[in-house]
Amino acid sequence: VQTPLVDAFGRTARDLRVSLTDRCNLRCTYCMPAEGMEWLPTDKVLSDAEVIRMVRIAVETLGIVKVRFTGGEPLLRKELEDIVAAASAMRTVDGGSPELMLTTNGLGLEHRAQALKDAGLDRVNISLDSLDPERYARLARRDRLHDVLAAIDASHAVGLTPVKVNSVIMRGQNEQDILPLADYCLRRGHQLRYIEQMPLGPHDQWDRSQMVTQTEILDTLREQYVLTPASTPRGAAPAELWEVAPDEQQAGGRIGVIASVTNPFCGSCDRTRLTADGQMRNCLFSRTETDLRGPLRAGASDEEIARLWLGGQFEKRAGHGIGEPTFQQPDRNMSAIGG
Ligand code: GTP
Ligand code: 5AD
Ligand code: SF4
Repeated sequence: VQTPLVDAFGRTARDLRVSLTDRCNLRCTYCMPAEGMEWLPTDKVLSDAEVIRMVRIAVETLGIVKVRFTGGEPLLRKELEDIVAAASAMRTVDGGSPELMLTTNGLGLEHRAQALKDAGLDRVNISLDSLDPERYARLARRDRLHDVLAAIDASHAVGLTPVKVNSVIMRGQNEQDILPLADYCLRRGHQLRYIEQMPLGPHDQWDRSQMVTQTEILDTLREQYVLTPASTPRGAAPAELWEVAPDEQQAGGRIGVIASVTNPFCGSCDRTRLTADGQMRNCLFSRTETDLRGPLRAGASDEEIARLWLGGQFEKRAGHGIGEPTFQQPDRNMSAIGG
């Protein structure tokens, strides 16, 4: 049976985000406390074969056409290339190949970019919150800017393109990076997306009044660039895109803002998620999860897993509700859910 993953609001999930580990080798302040998190015990984390089976059910039965591997940091998964290769051999319900993507902090990617490309990965999104080594080290709590820049170059060189660069902008931390990041990405042909910080890290860390908004980011960009809204339809994409016209000094290109808080895209969301410990989530902010690992290990058939997945997706709420009086931050933070 082939059944699309629809919810009660008529949205259909086509995009699966698979977290391969909750661990990370950075400690970005908006994501984790300095001491890190209590990591999942290994026996609760899906094995390679289990991940591949879940992805196969999603792609071959549930109509998923895009698969993104996230973490934590997905490159910490030694066999990532094998998982990508297995996913690359799958066929979607329309008979095509699933689009395969990776969201990563870039550490170690310089030397794996070619192998990942060869395994069938289509493109990468890399986090880079500052171009200044000291500010980078303060935000990520590790002095690894050089590795990230090398990863971006390598990904571009092997054709994991367009390389998308994700920058969370935080007040008093990296607002001075807004323009340098744009210049860096435009010159090299990468697509930069600025991200509004969401309440998904340490619980005392997020404060709406402190958040740098899309409006502020655009005002800063307009000091230096002429922006026009991109003409291509946005669809279910989280980023709203602007065209930057080239002139004598500046390269043209596209820049995006992911304004999940001030301009949410929940109404057109086409996502479903699988955590590293095999829990299906219908939203980053869902309050409930559907256990798929237990049934999988107890011998459930593909069809039974698919039915559980459909049931969980149907419960997807209309929106994340950030700012509403009843809003509660999820129990897990972004690194444990999957970015
Ligand atoms: P593409 O545009 O297809 O490359 O992917 P993407 O932008 O969805 O992927 P990426 O993993 O790079 O995520 C970028 C940012 O989007 C994250 O940092 C989040 O801020 C935001 N984001 C990702 N998934 C969700 C989601 O389910 N809900 C909301 N509100 N924001 C999300
Ligand atoms: N708010 C917004 N984006 C976040 N990310 C991690 N934590 C948060 C947060 N609290 C981003 C990372 C990475 C992507 C997976 O999610 O910077 O680019
Ligand atoms: Fe790691 Fe990503 Fe969290 Fe940063 S945002 S600590 S790179 S999981």
